[in-house]
Amino acid sequence: MKINWREIPSPCYVLEEERLIKNLQLMKYVQESASVDIICALKGYSLHATFPTLLQYLHGATASSLHEARLVYEKMGVKAHTYCAVYVPQDFDEIQNYSSHLTFNSLSEYNRWKDKVAEGISCGLRVNPGYSEVGTELYNPCAPNSRLGIARNLIGDTLPEGIEGLHFHALCENNSYTLERVLLSFMGLYDDLLKQVKWVNFGGGHLMTKEGYDIEHLIKILRQFRLQYPNIEQVILEPGSAVGWQTGYLMSTILDIVQNDKLPIAMLDVSFTCHMPDCLEMPYQPKILNISEHGKYEYYMGGLSCLAGDYMGTWKFEQPLNIGDKVIFDDMIHYTMVKTSTFNGINLPSIGIWSLTQKFQLLNSYGYEDYASRLS
Ligand SMILES: Cc1ncc(COP(=O)(O)O)c(C=O)c1O
Repeated sequence: MKINWREIPSPCYVLEEERLIKNLQLMKYVQESASVDIICALKGYSLHATFPTLLQYLHGATASSLHEARLVYEKMGVKAHTYCAVYVPQDFDEIQNYSSHLTFNSLSEYNRWKDKVAEGISCGLRVNPGYSEVGTELYNPCAPNSRLGIARNLIGDTLPEGIEGLHFHALCENNSYTLERVLLSFMGLYDDLLKQVKWVNFGGGHLMTKEGYDIEHLIKILRQFRLQYPNIEQVILEPGSAVGWQTGYLMSTILDIVQNDKLPIAMLDVSFTCHMPDCLEMPYQPKILNISEHGKYEYYMGGLSCLAGDYMGTWKFEQPLNIGDKVIFDDMIHYTMVKTSTFNGINLPSIGIWSLTQKFQLLNSYGYEDYASRLS
């Protein structure tokens, strides 16, 4: 699909509807082939204008706070599978209005809230499966002394009364072979408890829409799990990244080019720290569209905040860059707009969709009021 970038205001997150649907079709295929329910993790993907589309393919969404649960309820029209690392007391009643499932991160949390859980809501415990392959400590829920998920030795042979599900989250942009190894550890530790539950949630981090992901292997291990635990009525996967993976861009414009040392720096109307924070946190260098790795004109890309580290490596272009040129960062839909900040008073990029009908639809743009209303 050819996007007409000139139609789009800069800076802007641009989702390609066609790519989103392609991801959703693949996820639907997994659901149907393996008899599992896939729900979207809002923490990674919350572009709610597309929630009606998501619902045509997926089974709903997972929330990690009152506001996410409400967004699921209001914009998707279904109740959320909610897991909060800790429930905020003043939110607990309202969160139940928007939730079908509540998962608790510790036994003390469950004991604190269990008598207040409304009828019809299914409760689960998040447990530590005892194994993960997440290299970056910041994203590793199974790191030593992790606060996320109950350790096996803290639960006896029988689940607390009222617990109907077990949940783990131990993957981060991983493949099905990693899931297989996590499941081996999970089943080894929790086999007796798995025989007591109605549902199990394998968390997120299943990057099934990434090129090269072995979908058939995923389906095979999910089916095996289902056969091993016929008592389990529902197996849930809750990826966020996989929904928005490679579905769009952050379009920016070069405002200035400075050179204080060896290499020139293109000063952009976007910021890594404000608009692409995972580049600095993970860290990773995003791709820029339409550039050749062998170009001879090398530039840093600099963000517009005054954070000294608001840049991320260099890129090589075939032509010298000019003020006014567009720089389009690839794969900027998941974990971007959900994590933006207005540090330095920097405005948020607009959000838009390049639709199936080859038209640009501006969904939202921001200004001073959005910045000021977050402060007082
Ligand atoms: C509990 C839980 N579920 C789901 C997800 C979504 O993971 P991903 O976006 O990597 O698929 C996360 C991410 O941190 C998570 O913590």
